[in-house]
Amino acid sequence: MLTFTITPAEVQDIDSLLALEKRVFIAADGLLSKRSFRYHLGSKNILLVARQNCPTKPVIGYLLVFVRTQSARLYSLAIHPDFQRHGVARSLYTHASAILKSKNIHKLSLELRPSNTAAFKFYQSLGFEKKTTRPNYYGDGENALCLSLNARVCPLPYSST
Ligand SMILES: CC(C)(COP(=O)(O)OP(=O)(O)OC[C@H]1O[C@@H](n2cnc3c(N)ncnc32)[C@H](O)[C@@H]1OP(=O)(O)O)[C@@H](O)C(=O)NCCC(=O)NCCS
Repeated sequence: MLTFTITPAEVQDIDSLLALEKRVFIAADGLLSKRSFRYHLGSKNILLVARQNCPTKPVIGYLLVFVRTQSARLYSLAIHPDFQRHGVARSLYTHASAILKSKNIHKLSLELRPSNTAAFKFYQSLGFEKKTTRPNYYGDGENALCLSLNARVCPLPYSST
């Protein structure tokens, strides 16, 4: 069984985050840069990392949520392919949801590629629903599916809070 910890990202995680970003996404997805990661570290947004139970090991997954006044946008979520299907994404999401709940934010939205069936199934398993489509959203012309979730209507199935 994979054991891992979830913590807020720190400045020393940035190189590891950049490597993960390049491993998981393609340029047309709009890769986050060193500057963007650095910006989000010092912002009100939620940037969490997962790593195996050893502080010197590289990041195996991360989640970035943009926090607004009454809603939030799950901007990015990536798990290293060697560590997928071990509940890492679910755990990152659960931690972020607890933070949003503490801020009284219950509405969460996100975009993803219709071709990304793994991510679609993941978000569906959490209760996200398809709302609309954004044409020509990604750099290579693929549309985006827009999903949203109201945590008041659909409480977290996995949350311990
Ligand atoms: C989508 C992604 C984040 C899922 O991460 P993960 O850590 O493997 O997901 P989890 O192990 O927490 O999965 C939780 C549940 O989601 C669903 N799920 C996750 N990956 C799935 C897959 N490949 N196929 C079908 N269902 C899947 C399952 O219901 C799973 O529960 P189960 O394993 O008990 O069946 C990961 O595949 C990933 O990083 N993909 C590339 C980047 C990406 O697409 N990011 C999202 C778009 S921004």
